[in-house]
Amino acid sequence: MRRKKFNYTDDEILDVIFPKKIFRYDKRPKLVIVPHHIAHAASVFFTSGLKKAAILVIDGQGEDSSTSIAYGEDKTIKVLKSFPIQSSLGYFYEAVNKYIGFHYFDSGKTMGLAPYGKSIFNFKNIKLGNSGYNIVLPRKLKYSPEHLDEQETLVNLWHKKIKEFINQPNSIKYEFEKSKNRIISKLEIPQIYKDFATSAQAVLEKAIDHLAILAVKMTGCNDLCISGGVGLNCVANGKLLYNPLVKTLYIFPAANDAGVSAGAALYASALYDKNADFSRLEHIYLGPHYANRQIRKILNESKIRYKISNNICKETACLLAKNKIISWFQGKMEVGPRALGNRSILASPLKKAMWKRVNIIKGRELWRPFAPSTLEEYKDEYFENAQSSPFMLKTFRVKKNKQSLIPAVVHIDGSTRPQTVSKKTNKKLWLLINEFYKITGVPALLNTSFNRFGEPIVCTLQDAMAMFYNSGLDYLVIDNLIISKENKK
Ligand SMILES: [Fe+2]
Repeated sequence: MRRKKFNYTDDEILDVIFPKKIFRYDKRPKLVIVPHHIAHAASVFFTSGLKKAAILVIDGQGEDSSTSIAYGEDKTIKVLKSFPIQSSLGYFYEAVNKYIGFHYFDSGKTMGLAPYGKSIFNFKNIKLGNSGYNIVLPRKLKYSPEHLDEQETLVNLWHKKIKEFINQPNSIKYEFEKSKNRIISKLEIPQIYKDFATSAQAVLEKAIDHLAILAVKMTGCNDLCISGGVGLNCVANGKLLYNPLVKTLYIFPAANDAGVSAGAALYASALYDKNADFSRLEHIYLGPHYANRQIRKILNESKIRYKISNNICKETACLLAKNKIISWFQGKMEVGPRALGNRSILASPLKKAMWKRVNIIKGRELWRPFAPSTLEEYKDEYFENAQSSPFMLKTFRVKKNKQSLIPAVVHIDGSTRPQTVSKKTNKKLWLLINEFYKITGVPALLNTSFNRFGEPIVCTLQDAMAMFYNSGLDYLVIDNLIISKENKK
């Protein structure tokens, strides 16, 4: 569906995607318009490796829907049921996030805050029933094709409703700390807002579980695919693993709108390419990378000294075991919101103090948790109800006897959101963790994205060096080169 406000002709759209000044073509390329939720559904189903699946798309909004249940079989996707924008779980969570004082698109913070509170608020206006769910707000949303989307209207309606629970929205002030060159929030979040986060997370988990059951029942298929921004709620995903009706759970690593372009392309491919073969997405290291020669040229030009290592994994593991914090820049950049070991900040998970140190380096709130990258082979030893989680999208409980071994990556409720690393998909990261294991006996490293508060994950060498030299990071490891702060010529 095309919104009235953006009712461009095919030629106008093509001129944006393939400007004739750059792409010379005589025959106009075929333009396929893919509805937003179909693109989300295609992104997850056509990369799942499944022949048949129940598909759940949960996001803020896609045209006139907020949540969709679909069925995927071979090269087809059929939407079976859609829920209106008013029932948007994505906008509900955004509204909660904003009310707590976080910025738009910072929903991960609300999820991370939830374990610090108690579920004391009852969202009776989110009604679950046999045919799905609906959300009752102080006034009914008027859908207008003139608007870009209904996010602001719905968040404001939700804020009117939330006032019944808590009179005032919280305000978090971020200040720039000049001496440490970082932005940090100064105020402690009052307990009532933590309780609010817990309550909102609990109702979201309940709604997602309910929708998962409905999707399985409607499709007769208990292999479930999830996409849409709410699919990044790893805690809710982790809870689904306890649902006996869900046999397989696959979530697209770029479940948010970053993944819809891939989804639209996959959908068009399913429609028009007879030879298209949709196998399981094994990894998402698909971004830009640098050849070793290129890296050394850039470093030499920047007058940065480096040490060439003959065994980079062993040497880096030794530094990590000595509690050095490493920025790790390797191979092709990851797609999606998680750093999966190619643009990562790595640290030892053995001491709880590392939790605070890495948060300070990143300029993040000190309460925000970290996750480990763990050797795939040890997942059952460390996590309850463990499954492979190559894209860091499911939360598990850390086994009681292991919690004290990796305190820097265990949240206060005993949970964590690991990346399980296999030799097949990221050999270098696997070897590094294995070397760390040989030294410490722990097959895991703290792994967080290589970026600072409010900035995207570093992509280029220049991005990496800018962050390294302006932060408390101890070493920058690029390919087989080690750079320390003393090494500037
Ligand atoms: Fe979306």
